[in-house]
Amino acid sequence: MNDLQTDYVDLFLIHEPYDESRLMYRAMKEAREAGKIKAVGISNFNGRRYSDFVKSCGLIPAVNQVVSFINGGSFSGSLAYAGAESVRQRKERFFRNAVLTEIGKKYGKSVGQTGLKSLIRTGVSAVPKSSSVERMKENIDIFDFDLDEEDLSKISAPDENRTLFGWY
Ligand SMILES: NC(=O)c1ccc[n+]([C@@H]2O[C@H](COP(=O)([O-])OP(=O)(O)OC[C@H]3O[C@@H](n4cnc5c(N)ncnc54)[C@H](OP(=O)(O)O)[C@@H]3O)[C@@H](O)[C@H]2O)c1
Repeated sequence: MNDLQTDYVDLFLIHEPYDESRLMYRAMKEAREAGKIKAVGISNFNGRRYSDFVKSCGLIPAVNQVVSFINGGSFSGSLAYAGAESVRQRKERFFRNAVLTEIGKKYGKSVGQTGLKSLIRTGVSAVPKSSSVERMKENIDIFDFDLDEEDLSKISAPDENRTLFGWY
């Protein structure tokens, strides 16, 4: 909080299911009761781990932050692929994605905006990170258009049968 120059933190997450998650969560709940944290949550807990955790954690996590993929492809071969191409190259390829470019054009929206909209339309609360104020504005400017069912099914179809990123 000293580093953040604040008296409280809005949301505090456990990064992934650690052996000590329950103890960590207990400490976080105490900090919440003391007013230092407004909401507590977890991250990267899959369905089984999430169900186990909520059975005994005493307070349902406000958030379970997990990675989400726009093209619903299979992730086989992703690690070998991730090793072969730098993260920067993979991101550049994402922002040239042909399906998102074509659909975005219909609505006057960028690839980033079209991808974010597709996530939101499928019930995902997306957290797009940007260090550029312009792109932050772009990323939030997605509530004045809608994607139809055909767009959504094109976007969610597996494109290259592998993930651009190492997470799966
Ligand atoms: N819980 C976990 O395990 C976990 C894991 C990974 C990430 N996260 C969190 O999830 C959030 C997102 O992480 P991330 O890995 O997706 O972020 P990231 O890859 O670090 O950042 C997104 C990238 O996309 C670019 N970008 C953003 N908006 C764009 C746009 N409209 N057009 C073109 N490029 C755009 C950004 O570049 P510019 O900055 O130059 O705009 C940046 O290079 C972060 O808050 C991160 O902390 C959590």
